[in-house]
Amino acid sequence: MYKPIEIADGIYSVGVRDWDIRDFHGYSTYEGTTYNAFLIPGEKNILIDTVKEKFSEEFLSNISRIIDPKDIDIVISNHTEMDHSGAIPKLMQIIGKDKPLYCSKMGAKNLKSHFNQDFNFQVVGTGDTLKVGNRTFSFLETKMLHWPDSMFTYLVEDAILFSSDAFGQHYSGDKFFDDEIGDEIIPHARKYYANILLHFSPKVQTLLKDVAKMNLKINMICPDHGIIWRDNPSKIIELYDKWSKQEPEKKVVVIFDSMLISRLWEPAISLKSETEPFLFLRQKCFTGRTVCLPILWKMPSCFPVMPLGSTIAVTNSLMMKSMMKSSRTLENIMPISFFTSLQKYRLF
Ligand SMILES: [Fe+2]
Ligand SMILES: [Fe+2]
Repeated sequence: MYKPIEIADGIYSVGVRDWDIRDFHGYSTYEGTTYNAFLIPGEKNILIDTVKEKFSEEFLSNISRIIDPKDIDIVISNHTEMDHSGAIPKLMQIIGKDKPLYCSKMGAKNLKSHFNQDFNFQVVGTGDTLKVGNRTFSFLETKMLHWPDSMFTYLVEDAILFSSDAFGQHYSGDKFFDDEIGDEIIPHARKYYANILLHFSPKVQTLLKDVAKMNLKINMICPDHGIIWRDNPSKIIELYDKWSKQEPEKKVVVIFDSMLISRLWEPAISLKSETEPFLFLRQKCFTGRTVCLPILWKMPSCFPVMPLGSTIAVTNSLMMKSMMKSSRTLENIMPISFFTSLQKYRLF
C-alpha cells in the first residue's frame, strides 16, 4: 500500500507501487516501479495523471484519504500510455465525464481512440496556462519524449515540474525523495534513460536548451515513476544533459556488432586502441540478431572485469536491451548509439 504523502504545501502524491513488475518495456525492473499521480486540492481539486488500470481501486482509495474522489474537478493527463492513464475511465465515471480533462492534442486523440469514449477534452499546448485560485499550471509539450502526446505540467507558484516519464526511475523502495536515497538512485535513473529515452537524445538536448531559455525556477521535479527530485533537481537535469550528449567516457569501450557494418569499426579499433583499451566483439554473420543472441548471452561473463562507467557501443537497441537484461552489472554502463559513436570518434 502506498500511503499518500504531502510532497509540498497542499500537494499530495497519491500513486501506487507495483512491487512485482520485473519487465517493463522489455527491460528488467528488479525493484519494481511506481505509478505516480499528484493531487492538488483547493478551490478546484486537481489531479495530475493516474495509474495502471489494475491499480484503480488502490489509487482511488489513496485519493479518498485526502478528499472524496468524486470531488475532483479537473484532470490533467501528461501522457496517455496505459501505466498513467489506465485508471482514467474509472475515475471519469466517478467524477463525471463532463469534468475537464486537460491533455495535448495527441493526448486527446489517443485517449479517445484507446477508451472509445469522448471525454471533455481541453486541448493544451506549449505556453498555455490554467489558472485555478492562486495556482497557475503551465503546459509544455514534449513530443516524442517519449510519445507524441507527452507533455510536462509546470506549477508556477510552487516551481514544481510534473515531468511525466522524463526523469523517472523504476524503483519502488521505501524512499520518496532524492535526499532520502542519495546516489543509489542514479543507476536506476541511468538505466531508465538508456531504455526509454536514449534514442531521443537529440530531442532531449533540444528540450533542455528550450527549458534553459525559459529560465524556469525548479524547486522540485515530480516524475511519474520512482522518487521525487526535491533536494537537488538540477542534478538529474545535468545528468540528462550529459547522457543525451552521448559522450563516451574514456574507460573501456566494448563494441559489439553482429551486422555487416561491423567492418566499419575496424578503423576505430586501430585509431583508438592506442589511447583507450578496447574490447571488440564481433559476430561474423550478416543475419543480425538471430544468430548473435546465443553469443550475446555469454557476454556478461566478461563484464565484471570492466570498470564502472565503461562504455558499450552497440548497433541496435534490441541488442542493447538484451545486454542490459542479461547482467545487472551492465546497469552501470551507459550505452551509446552506433552512429553517434562514429561521429564522436570522427572516423568519417
Ligand atoms: Fe510512457
Ligand atoms: Fe511510464
